[in-house]
Amino acid sequence: MNRILSTKEMLLKAQRDGYAVPAFNIHNLETVQVVVETAAEMGSPVILAGTPSTIKYAGADYLVSIAEVAAKKYNIPIAIHLDHFEDVEQIKKYIDAGFKSAMIDASHLNFEENIKIVKSVVDYAHMFDTTVEAELGQLGGIEDDKVVDDKDALYTNPKSAKEFVERTNIDSLAVAIGTAHGLYKGEPKLDFDRLKEIRQLVEVPLVLHGASDVPDELVKKAISFGICKVNVATDLKIPFSDAVKKYFIEHPDANDPRKYMTPGKSAMKEIVKHKIEVCGSNNRY
Ligand code: 13P
Repeated sequence: MNRILSTKEMLLKAQRDGYAVPAFNIHNLETVQVVVETAAEMGSPVILAGTPSTIKYAGADYLVSIAEVAAKKYNIPIAIHLDHFEDVEQIKKYIDAGFKSAMIDASHLNFEENIKIVKSVVDYAHMFDTTVEAELGQLGGIEDDKVVDDKDALYTNPKSAKEFVERTNIDSLAVAIGTAHGLYKGEPKLDFDRLKEIRQLVEVPLVLHGASDVPDELVKKAISFGICKVNVATDLKIPFSDAVKKYFIEHPDANDPRKYMTPGKSAMKEIVKHKIEVCGSNNRY
């Protein structure tokens, strides 16, 4: 493909062919390497997602450059995506820096204000062939620096979703159907009837946030009912850091990042592989 893409074509193809494109939250060179190398080995399209604090940590210019190198190196569709951004000016700045996909998260605002902010991002982003995802309803849990109490979580209303998509002209819609960011206290309960209804009323690709710690069968079922982008963060962070911690316990004098990062990368790779299989996005390119 040779360049960073928007998520437009890759999500529409996934929607047509009944699978989901995984969006993995990355943080640095190592995590990008694991994700793109594994996706390339498996012939899967992939989305590299960076939250506001990741961009602050790693630098938009570094991340765009790393992703450009990856896109040149591998023959799979690769997108870099701004995940859970709330600040319109920041989104514009990072689109200018080379991001071709952005989520404007105004899901905490009321319906009309959400539409207004999302529409302003869409108007800007579409001038640069950049795709926009927005959320209606609100997930509970912890994402980036934000904590949403379970009692404040709100499910997506299907009829409002239809109106929201029509009035904002977004490219994909993040739905709240019972998943939460981070780990769950019990087994998550997903509202598949709601998802089916949303799918019937809304044409754009649908996005499942908070896919970590959700049993594979439920994720697959959500995909069969129309989810075409699956977001995973926590399930990658835990094995990476556990493997690094174990390495330090076994090698208390270790100080070489090339050595102690390697088991983290290997542990993360296994999960990336598994998530790609759950999404059914392997052997698509
Ligand atoms: P998890 O950390 O629960 O996988 O959520 C990730 C996410 O939805 C990123 O937008």
